[in-house]
Amino acid sequence: MKNVHELVEKNVGLLTVFILIAISLGAMVEITPLMFQQQTMTPVKGLKPYTALQLEGRDIYIREGCVGCHSQMIRPFRAETERYGHYSVAGESVWDHPFLWGSKRTGPDLARVGGRYSDDWHRVHLMNPRNVVPESNMPGFPWLMENTLDGKLTAKKMEALRSLGVPYTDEDIAGAQAAVKGKKEMEALIAYLQSLGTALK
Ligand code: HEC
Repeated sequence: MKNVHELVEKNVGLLTVFILIAISLGAMVEITPLMFQQQTMTPVKGLKPYTALQLEGRDIYIREGCVGCHSQMIRPFRAETERYGHYSVAGESVWDHPFLWGSKRTGPDLARVGGRYSDDWHRVHLMNPRNVVPESNMPGFPWLMENTLDGKLTAKKMEALRSLGVPYTDEDIAGAQAAVKGKKEMEALIAYLQSLGTALK
């Protein structure tokens, strides 16, 4: 045991164990305080859970991979807040499971896109972005206009979210299927987009 360091470096098993311990400690120091900080757990005033239709729209957003090109996270820098509005705060996404902050901005950030355009603008844009933004390289999503929701799983999704702390009422859940059944996927996605970032102005 003249050189403990050398012993650890030459023994893959031992090295792995020590690396894991070091990483776990680092992670714990970063993650544990967040679970007890009110700021990261308290919803901002005026935050509402997604309606049944918005929730279905959010799932379409995930399915279509919008998050691969759009972030939903405005950073606290002047260049960002002047373009997009107030920077994002943790209390806005406490009910987002999973959150869609993203990390890639091929297109603009969407954290506060709610209310920026009309529903009609979104419809035309999602059918074929080049009809409103000629230089756009965003793909069109015309099938959203054809696919209709049946709402069979909407109540189940809301129940799952409620078990994670989203304050859905029994009425919300009971009325979920009726609220989305027969609606076009396009309507749901637009309802979701129009809700983004509106709790905090
Ligand atoms: C391949 C990358 C890509 C994908 C995938 C993509 N977008 Fe985009 N998006 C862009 C680009 C680039 C722009 C900027 C040009 C434009 O407005 O079309 C944009 C613009 C937008 C805008 C206007 C934002 C603003 O503030 O002007 C919205 C809303 C939007 N996208 C929604 C969506 C939704 C919803 C999806 C998924 C159904 C999606 N995008 C998928 C690249 C993408």
